[in-house]
Amino acid sequence: MRILTDRIPPKKIPRVIFRQQSDRVTFQTDAAGRSSLVLGVGLTATLTRRQCILALRRVVMIAKDQRWTGLAIDFRTLRSLVKEVPDAELAELLVVNLLLADYAFEHYKTEPDTGFPHVRTVYLTNADTARVRHGLRRGKIIGEETNRARHIAIMPAGEMTPALLARYTRQMFRKLPVRVTIWNEREIERRGLAGIIAVGKGSTSKPRFIILEYWGGKRTEKPTVLIGKGVTFDAGGINLKPTTAIPGMNMDMSGGASVIHTLAACARLKLKQNIIVLIPAVENMISGESYRPGDIIRTLSGKTVEVQDTDAEGRIILADTLTWAAKYHPRLVIDVATLTGSAMVALGERSSAIFTEDETLETTLRHIGLAVGDPVWPLPLWDEYLDDIRGTYADLGNVGNTKWGGAITAAIFLKQFVTYPWAHIDIAPRMTTIQGEHLAKGSVGAGVQLLVRFLTTGA
Ligand code: BES
Ligand code: ZN
Ligand code: ZN
Repeated sequence: MRILTDRIPPKKIPRVIFRQQSDRVTFQTDAAGRSSLVLGVGLTATLTRRQCILALRRVVMIAKDQRWTGLAIDFRTLRSLVKEVPDAELAELLVVNLLLADYAFEHYKTEPDTGFPHVRTVYLTNADTARVRHGLRRGKIIGEETNRARHIAIMPAGEMTPALLARYTRQMFRKLPVRVTIWNEREIERRGLAGIIAVGKGSTSKPRFIILEYWGGKRTEKPTVLIGKGVTFDAGGINLKPTTAIPGMNMDMSGGASVIHTLAACARLKLKQNIIVLIPAVENMISGESYRPGDIIRTLSGKTVEVQDTDAEGRIILADTLTWAAKYHPRLVIDVATLTGSAMVALGERSSAIFTEDETLETTLRHIGLAVGDPVWPLPLWDEYLDDIRGTYADLGNVGNTKWGGAITAAIFLKQFVTYPWAHIDIAPRMTTIQGEHLAKGSVGAGVQLLVRFLTTGA
């Protein structure tokens, strides 16, 4: 998609008119033969960011439906509807959401004779200021990287095994100033990341540990470490998931996809930050080699973990990764993971869950999340919950002694491996797109927009 700000839209290009009326959509043609799409955006005087985001996505969805390849949008009218959003931010939000709505996972579909429906050109009028251009440039990078995260997240598991994810990542960063290191199973074992080895044992596709380093800040500045759960397929292991819970489990590396492309965006934006990305990539399968319930793992930290349920694999691989992260003396570590179905029970499908003891950080991330449309909402991380995840024969159990509050007990489990400022984001609720958010079926790309904005503001 090209966004042109310096051209008068040709007459045949439909114009978008946002109108303060019920959310009806109508098509009009004026006397000069020029067509327009009139989108009702509700009766309120101004649009909230959320309404604006949804309206923009809806425009693209309608355009694709109509098989329009071009659109004309007047930035000034949009500007007048969305108050209290600075120009650059509105421009960024505009491009990101046009791009997100235009994306669809078409990789395995035969292209129709008429081509896949896409909006190829957007003529953005009254948008030719430095501030707006700056926002557009940022939006393009963030939108593209979010779509790439969505793309690798939704790839079939056989095409995105740990080794293939590692290879993809290496390729991805070839032209960016990011150092890529990949450990194979032998190396992971040699370093003592026994949890990753245990979870990966059941699969013929062996684990990888992906390390990305971006030193955009001063060498003396401590880095921010981003960790992404990289379970390329989660069958549940010996505690095999029921049939209905298996579809979508190729997306259990969404956290990994998210932090890979967050870093790609940060590198393209040339952020003056030091950022490390760590991804434990494994496949959780059932076979004669699988780790079993009752197994006890001595994790890298020295703490022992009793396997009570092989389907609670994310926290086991993250435990070792969190321990490894300490080697970087991080100022902050944020992990992003499709960790629990319980987070969806708690929050539905409209917000990720955030866990942190740092209230300022929590507030910052919550506000950014709402502003960019990638929301996180807090759940408790009190030490009292620790009683729920003690092991019978080992230091910790990977499920614990209660069936309640599964998102919280998972977070408390992770906390036992943390020795630095930290936030955990459970993106299971926002792994898959839902009706009404005007995005194609598939992955949401949760986390990318949130983290890029967070790292940009230098918090
Ligand atoms: N990958 C799943 C969590 C998940 C479920 C993500 C649905 C996205 C959509 C995770 O590994 C898992 O299986 N968690 C279990 C933990 C339980 C066995 C303690 C869960 O949440 O049910
Ligand atoms: Zn699982
Ligand atoms: Zn999982």
